[in-house]
Amino acid sequence: MTDNEPIFDVAQLSHVELFTPKMDESLWFFKELLGLQESSRDGKSVYLRGYEESYHHSLKLTERDQPGMAQMGWRASSKLALDRRVSQIEKLGAGIGWVDTEAGYGPAYEYRTPDGHIQRIFWEVERATIPDSLKTPLINRPQKRPLSGVPVRRLDHVNLMCSDVGPMRRFYQEAMGTRLRETIIAGGGEVEVAAWMSHNNLVHDVAMMRDESGVKGRLHHVAFWYGYPQHLSDAADVFREHNIQIEAGPGKHGITQAAFLYCFEPGGNRVELFGDAGYLIFEPDWKPVVWEEKDLEAGIIWHGSQLPQEFFMVGTPPVPANE
Ligand SMILES: [Fe+2]
Repeated sequence: MTDNEPIFDVAQLSHVELFTPKMDESLWFFKELLGLQESSRDGKSVYLRGYEESYHHSLKLTERDQPGMAQMGWRASSKLALDRRVSQIEKLGAGIGWVDTEAGYGPAYEYRTPDGHIQRIFWEVERATIPDSLKTPLINRPQKRPLSGVPVRRLDHVNLMCSDVGPMRRFYQEAMGTRLRETIIAGGGEVEVAAWMSHNNLVHDVAMMRDESGVKGRLHHVAFWYGYPQHLSDAADVFREHNIQIEAGPGKHGITQAAFLYCFEPGGNRVELFGDAGYLIFEPDWKPVVWEEKDLEAGIIWHGSQLPQEFFMVGTPPVPANE
């Protein structure tokens, strides 16, 4: 945890690329049930965005034999901010190199977290092309709200499983200036079990939790935002009707105060629907909230259904059977 001058070089979580072994079914889930809009296709990939998102895409689905996360991308605050972060990533020895062939954004620097999750950071973005038929008189909204399913408004955050939370948390702080908002520390103050971090006023735009399987670099969940907690009940109603596996919720976490609904999309990745923003943080000298084991009953579930034990074990890709 650093006391250095705050860094505001990373503006926002911009996109996530998920692998799916069931492209048609995953597409149906994200388009018909969550109302994502298709921007374009390329080979085995489809690019999607929420109706309040103006960039080309926030979700890229790519067909692969196993579910999991291919990469996630951050938009820098400026071209100079991008240059500063790339230089710092290289200093930390985490760099992979530049990618300039992707739809939706300009040159992106690819790097690796200590646990192996692939990340990208870039400045230039391509805006979505909205057909005239979808334009709305609500001119601060990029397009009309879709009439399909219970449409999400935007991508919110990603939760990464990792073999060791401490090095991951430190890496985000040192590489990206990410601020620690809340944390669970067990073992009498010795073991970091989970961390919720952000680059802006959100209580988290990235979270990380310890993977008890010991496997590195897995995804726990991707979350999309409603802003209306009652939509979680509507979504649960629709999911039940269409055989989408609901894992937990609707409920509210104490940690981050998030109104949540967890389900599995047909390709096997866990998806969270986020009912509101939890709470927002404006204090520049925010002191991270530390949850200890004695506090966790209120922390994990403030109200609503309990989380099944699998919630803490299951991630994507699945753990190979022989491990
Ligand atoms: Fe979450």
